[in-house]
Order: sequence, then structure tokens, then C-alpha cells
Amino acid sequence: MQGNIRLPAKEEAMSEMKVDRCECVNRGFAELKAYGTLEEAQRATGCGQECEGCLPYLKLMFATGETAFEVDDPRLADYA
Ligand code: FES
Repeated sequence: MQGNIRLPAKEEAMSEMKVDRCECVNRGFAELKAYGTLEEAQRATGCGQECEGCLPYLKLMFATGETAFEVDDPRLADYA
């Protein structure tokens, strides 16, 4: 078969997933946002301090108020 390349269903689903939580502390961004600042959220939950993979997203969340992001959101370059 030539032409369109189609991802397997699982990979296609992964590409549509949003980043909306700190997996290390198992807390959603919407919950973490309620702490008001990144520093308070980190102090209370430890979010963003283990693998730090979510840290740019947390910074973007507190800057924008949004709580779910594309994995490759171009704005992340400003919050790395
Ligand atoms: S996913 Fe948030 S510190 Fe690992």
C-alpha cells in the first residue's frame, strides 16, 4: 500500500493526548492551579520536582491559566 501513512491506533491516541498532570505526584494541573503559584503548589505537593518533565508545563499553566497542553506546545520554549 502506498500513500497515506497511518499510525497504529495506540500511537494515534497518544499523539492526541494532552499534558494535564504531574505524573510523579499524581495531581492534575487543574488541582495544582488552585494553589495560586508554582512555588505554593510545589511546597504543598512536590509537583515538578521529581523527574521535572512537567515543570515547563506547570510554568506555562501559571502564566496562562490553561490546564491542558499539546505535548509540543511551541510556547514551552519560553518556560524551559
Ligand atoms: S511529571 Fe511532574 S515531576 Fe515528574
